[in-house]
Amino acid sequence: MTTTPADSDLKRLFVYNRSVPDLETFTRITAIEHDWIEPLIAGLAERTAPVASRAAWVERLAGLLAAEREPSPAGRYLAEKATREEFALVVREFGLDGLTEAQNFFPAVPRLPIRSQMAVMRVLIDEFGCGNLQQAHSQLYLNLLGELGLPRTVDDLLDLTSDETFAFLDVFFWLTQRAPHIEYFLGALAYLEASIPAAFTVQARACERLGIENGRYYTEHLHIDLFHMEEMQVAIREYEAVHPLDATKLWIGATLLSELLGTAFDSAVERAREAA
Ligand SMILES: [Fe+2]
Ligand SMILES: [Fe+2]
Repeated sequence: MTTTPADSDLKRLFVYNRSVPDLETFTRITAIEHDWIEPLIAGLAERTAPVASRAAWVERLAGLLAAEREPSPAGRYLAEKATREEFALVVREFGLDGLTEAQNFFPAVPRLPIRSQMAVMRVLIDEFGCGNLQQAHSQLYLNLLGELGLPRTVDDLLDLTSDETFAFLDVFFWLTQRAPHIEYFLGALAYLEASIPAAFTVQARACERLGIENGRYYTEHLHIDLFHMEEMQVAIREYEAVHPLDATKLWIGATLLSELLGTAFDSAVERAREAA
């Protein structure tokens, strides 16, 4: 298991990606991505059997979601056994994700045809609470961090976050801004939205069991991501109405996210158990 050294590439990549990059910073971003994400994608492409059509993609995604529906051992532990302290460490680990949720999806919008843009925007509007701060997902996470007495700013969380989590955060900057094919992003976000209702039952259960009052960040997603999952399939269908669709790249995006998020979650729970 790795922890984040103060100057890890993936941590620096997150900071660079949130800056207004000058030429030097941009060169560093692309250099880190070249050594990190490009081999990941190439490896997945090698292991992936081609996906013939959008219908075949829908079927393959359903198979992956069914296989992941039961929580991993780490998920079962978090739901049923973790102490409040252990749970808090996992909440802290995903703090950067919660506080910046969906912000880095926007650059994908201009890369999509208009009807596909509308579907993605309906998702994004929900993520931002339809403009109501009290419903914004980042605010719900802030409330949870507050209840658990955890740091509540991006700056304060940077040194408390592991490389496994930075990989999950960093990948969306590449997917939206530099991935040569937008299907990788569409497949990744379609997977993420579709997997969350099952995944977050773990944290929702832990909040219920531990008497944590601000578990709404999780329970909200159990409900709203059922709609987001459908909207992402609309986004893909509308993309295909305008452009040839490479369904294999949708699938590579989905498996990429599944691997990065699964690793980030399992190692967050493992680390919390070691630390607590
Ligand atoms: Fe959300
Ligand atoms: Fe969502």
